[in-house]
This record gives sequence, structure tokens and C-alpha cells, in this order.
Amino acid sequence: MRLDKYLSDCRAALRSETKELVKQGRITIDGIRAAKSSDKVSEASIVRIDGLRVEYKKYIYLMMNKPQGYVSATYDKNKPVVIDLLDEEYKRFEPFPAGRLDIDTEGLLILSNDGDFAHRLTSPKKNVYKRYFARLDFPAEKSAVGIFGGGMDLGDFTAKPAKLEICDDPREVFVEICEGKFHQVKRMFEKVGRKVVYLKRVKIGGLRLDDTLAPGEVRELSEAECEMFFR
Ligand code: URA
Repeated sequence: MRLDKYLSDCRAALRSETKELVKQGRITIDGIRAAKSSDKVSEASIVRIDGLRVEYKKYIYLMMNKPQGYVSATYDKNKPVVIDLLDEEYKRFEPFPAGRLDIDTEGLLILSNDGDFAHRLTSPKKNVYKRYFARLDFPAEKSAVGIFGGGMDLGDFTAKPAKLEICDDPREVFVEICEGKFHQVKRMFEKVGRKVVYLKRVKIGGLRLDDTLAPGEVRELSEAECEMFFR
């Protein structure tokens, strides 16, 4: 690819800025001063600006422990959005949330600028299960396990079979669904006469929320972790 594309993919310099940097002799490719912004480079090239290495990175994959009070969106007219919680070094990649959590839901939220990846993660057809911890207003009945497992008619759609586990304190449950319809978990509990008073997503596919992340904290995911969603 061209040098100016490499640097714009990395959000290190706009194409017009690359031209100027090259003119000023501030860019090297594998130790040799770049001559033109159209110079050819590969992902493996060692590109430096003012001696500092710019590693090739086009996509970003972030794990957030979403706090309550934030909308899962890139913009909202009235309320804070999860993007507000990101440092500038992440924001410049223009990530968006892959799937949504309600404003009062906490926990595992993935943000990326890779549309294909976000689609794989959220499409119900891909059967990526999302695991939630919920606290209910009243104890769950054992019979709810079968009702959740049978696929529930929620009026506008029928939910695919969901796994429900009731904890020792039956007001606490874990539920796994592979869709992400609006208020789905809350609506499923309403169907069995319970109100969700607290909801947290704890796992997507094979990847758990990193419990060292405090609410509002974010970290990058490794390539191996990105694959774990689909295991
Ligand atoms: N189901 C809900 O009801 N809310 C969420 O935020 C996620 C799943």
C-alpha cells in the first residue's frame, strides 16, 4: 500500500499531512528516508515519524466495563454515551458499540471500528451467546428454567431457547441468550412475572468480562481474545 494510506489507516497522519512530513524528511521506511507519500510499504514495514515507530493498525477492538447511566451509542442528544469514556488514542479510530446494553445495564460491551466483526458478534444467526447476571424483585420459580429453554413468545418475536440458571439466592440468576432484541432479558422475566432490578453482562461467547476493569474502564483486546467470542 501507499505510505499515505498506511499512515491514515493508523490514524497517525492525514494524507495531506504525510506529504508535508515527507517533504520535511521526517519519515523513514525500513531505515531509509521516505521520498514520496506514494512510496510503497507493507504491514510489516518499519515506518517511523521523527524516529518513533508507527505500527500498522487499521482496526481497534475494545472491551469496556460499561457503567450505568451511559447510552450504548456514538452520539445522543441528551445523555452521555459510552464513547465519552474513551481516551483520545482510541477515539481517533472512531469505534462504535457492537450491540447495545440498556442505559441502566452494566458490564461487558465491545467497541470496534470493524463492521464485519461487529456483525458476526451481534447477528442472531451466528449463535454467539451472551451471558447476563440479573437480580430480580422476587425469587425465580424453577418452572422458569423450562419456559426460558422452550423459546419464549414476546409478542413481536419469539426468542430462541435461552439458558436460565437460578443461584442459591433465587432472586439472583444467570441467563444466556444469543439475540439482543430491545430489553430482551427484562421482557423475558416480565413474561414470568418478575422484574429485573439489576442487570450486568458478564460474558460474550467464550470471552468473560475482565474483572480487573472497574466500571467505565476500557482495554484493548488481543487477536486471540477476539477469536474467543466465536468459540
Ligand atoms: N436485555 C435487556 O433487557 N437489557 C440489556 O441491556 C441487555 C439485554
